[in-house]
Amino acid sequence: MEYQNLISTVKENILYVTINREKALNALNKDTLTELADVIAFAEKSSEVRGVILTGAGEKAFVAGADIKEFSDYNGEQGEELAKRGNQNVFNAIEGSSKPFIAAINGFALGGGLELAMACHIRIAADNVKLGLPEVTLGLIPGYGGTQRLTQLVGKGKAIELITTANMINAEEAERIGLVNYVVPKTDLIPKAEEILNTIKLRAPLAVAAAIKSVVASFNETDGYLVETQQFGKCFDTDDFKEGVAAFVEKRKSVFVGK
Ligand code: CAA
Repeated sequence: MEYQNLISTVKENILYVTINREKALNALNKDTLTELADVIAFAEKSSEVRGVILTGAGEKAFVAGADIKEFSDYNGEQGEELAKRGNQNVFNAIEGSSKPFIAAINGFALGGGLELAMACHIRIAADNVKLGLPEVTLGLIPGYGGTQRLTQLVGKGKAIELITTANMINAEEAERIGLVNYVVPKTDLIPKAEEILNTIKLRAPLAVAAAIKSVVASFNETDGYLVETQQFGKCFDTDDFKEGVAAFVEKRKSVFVGK
């Protein structure tokens, strides 16, 4: 499959997907999300694909978040729509897939990037990664399921701390709190993901699919995602959002006024 922003290839029943916008630290713009939706749909319907490894191009980032520059002039309605579409076509599609997805986190996984990793079924981190949900520094909140999935993975207290402080954590801390399954040296990242998928490949595919569906189902009896989507949209109508994004683009510290 040929994409502008992804590299994708199937080898020995594993689909390898690399998000390939290295200059923007693999930030998720609309086109990348569209292509991701396409490759996820392909994985779901291909009988050859038994599992997916998702990673980022280059040394520096897995994904540094949603593309801030693309949504800098959005209003509340557009923000909510952005989150709805992304969640439906990409984040929920990954989590709801019958094929196991492993995020091989090779650098910064921030905002939508960490949300992408959290939508995957298993996360492996290189030992140099930095993880966080920095949206409140932009006057936003996580909009691709982060408030829900981080809470599911690490519990309420740690999730609220990480989201409200916007602090980044390192690989060791991420493993300690259960945010990633394994931490490995950079060179072992893809081999470790392959090792896990090669084991899963030996198991009954329908049972694997049923197991994933059952585990995921235990978390989805809540309207938390809907609340998050609405609150995410509302943030776009604040002056603080405009200030947060302007400060990012102008490479300066933001000054928030709380309206
Ligand atoms: N969107 C758009 N462009 C981005 C980006 C993003 N999320 N992250 C990095 N880039 C761009 C930078 O603007 C820069 O481009 P230019 O060279 O054209 O200026 C390039 O990638 C390299 O980045 P930096 O120069 O900033 O690299 P650094 O090493 O100094 O810093 C970083 C690295 C700490 C990851 C920093 O880039 C950063 O803070 N990025 C933004 C992280 C962030 O806030 N993510 C959340 C986005 S909002 C979101 O995801 C909403 C949601 O939940 C749906």
